[in-house]
Amino acid sequence: MAKVKTTFFCQNCGAPSARWVGKCPSCNEWNTFVEEVVSTSPSQIPAWRSSGKGDSIGRQAVPQLLGEIAPDKLIRTTLPGKELNRVLGGGLVPGALVLVGGEPGIGKSTLMLQIAMRAKGMKVLYVSGEESEQQISIRAMRIGHANTDCYILTETNTQAIFRHIESVKPDLVIIDSIQTLFSPDIESTPGTVSQIRGCAGDLLKFAKETATPVFLIGHITKDGSIAGPKVLEHMVDTVLQFEGDRHHVYRILRSTKNRFGSTSEIGIYEMSGTGLAEVPNPSEVLLSHIDENLSGIAIACTMEGLRPLLIEVQALVSSAVYGTPQRSSTGFDLRRLSMLLAVLEKRCGFRLAAKDVFLNIAGGLRVEDPAIDLAVICAILSSSEDIALPTRVCFAGEVGLSGEIRPVNRIDQRIKEAAKMGFEKIFFSKYNLQGSDKKTFGNIELVPVGKVEEVFRALFS
Ligand code: TYD
Ligand code: MG
Repeated sequence: MAKVKTTFFCQNCGAPSARWVGKCPSCNEWNTFVEEVVSTSPSQIPAWRSSGKGDSIGRQAVPQLLGEIAPDKLIRTTLPGKELNRVLGGGLVPGALVLVGGEPGIGKSTLMLQIAMRAKGMKVLYVSGEESEQQISIRAMRIGHANTDCYILTETNTQAIFRHIESVKPDLVIIDSIQTLFSPDIESTPGTVSQIRGCAGDLLKFAKETATPVFLIGHITKDGSIAGPKVLEHMVDTVLQFEGDRHHVYRILRSTKNRFGSTSEIGIYEMSGTGLAEVPNPSEVLLSHIDENLSGIAIACTMEGLRPLLIEVQALVSSAVYGTPQRSSTGFDLRRLSMLLAVLEKRCGFRLAAKDVFLNIAGGLRVEDPAIDLAVICAILSSSEDIALPTRVCFAGEVGLSGEIRPVNRIDQRIKEAAKMGFEKIFFSKYNLQGSDKKTFGNIELVPVGKVEEVFRALFS
């Protein structure tokens, strides 16, 4: 009996090693080596190459002058849905390999099936290794809009998948998910580094040789990165992250890598009973209590990607019941909240040690834009004083350690969005005023401020 050969692979970067090591010599991560069975057969023919189609492999590339290469070959296919096309950088490029990652249950399969079913005039092959045909058909019935040219295949063996691809000849291939695929040439189990790398490599070759775009759905690990080796993210052209809170309806599709477009665009979706619906004007749906006088609520004017977005920041400040006051934050960095509380204590006499502080960003969104700081501070002060902020007032400013309000980027766009949404006043950093054309902002009152104390005085005294 032939001896089974095993090799250890770093699950983070994919580096091989003959024996187990605690620290990866290539990426310096600890405890990432896992033993995997590797094929002992000398000829490891990738599945796609063995199909006989790969004639361009032997082609000799010759150096060409950059100016002589025709750039107009990039004809993008428009997929159904404005949001997705925008995130992709204006449509799908032929032969693009796109990885879609996200937490379980966030809606990756739903999004992809929706694309498969709504892509008019395209033959789509949806390969699922996770669900049966019946399960997919039930999901498809919920979504509606059947595309007659959408084929479903439940298969995990890449050689079989490539055989079916050759007979169906699809214009778009969707793989759900890359972690369930296995290539019989590689002896380790599905989901391991060698399998993921091997299968993704075959699909990459297929995509580039036939100019067929391929979507790969990828699982993510508990720290939020895409499961499998980092090389997977290097191999693909585009990495899309589908994020949001499973218990809320809003989802954000964000591109973290894009060889064919910018990574600053996002798409916003709402999970409904009939699939994912696009949210063309997110500010409208996120502001629920805009005209009610409630204490502890402040509206922040943030940017998500290149789009201004008005969101509601909610704070609750109450006397601490236990010795150690509680700090809790949903959708906002807890350490940043502690920093802002310390600034408030120092600058506004806020009695930090005796108060519990809870903070929540409405709609289940996660905001990383520092411009939300000012709204966070105002929401906390409003709840602490139990005085509602005036309605139709919003905030955009970063708060520094000494309580100074720092300028934020794209202030003109933020102010215009606030004016468009019917806001009457916006507080922002006075350092933002230089160079902006105030005439274009409409009827909104601009309140430039320099320090946290000034905002406090303007609002509460
Ligand atoms: P799914 O696409 O299976 O998530 P993933 O592939 O990322 O694991 O999404 C599953 C969730 O979406 C599930 O909890 C039910 C919900 N859902 C709806 O609310 N409405 C719908 O029309 C569909 C199809 C799913
Ligand atoms: Mg799924």
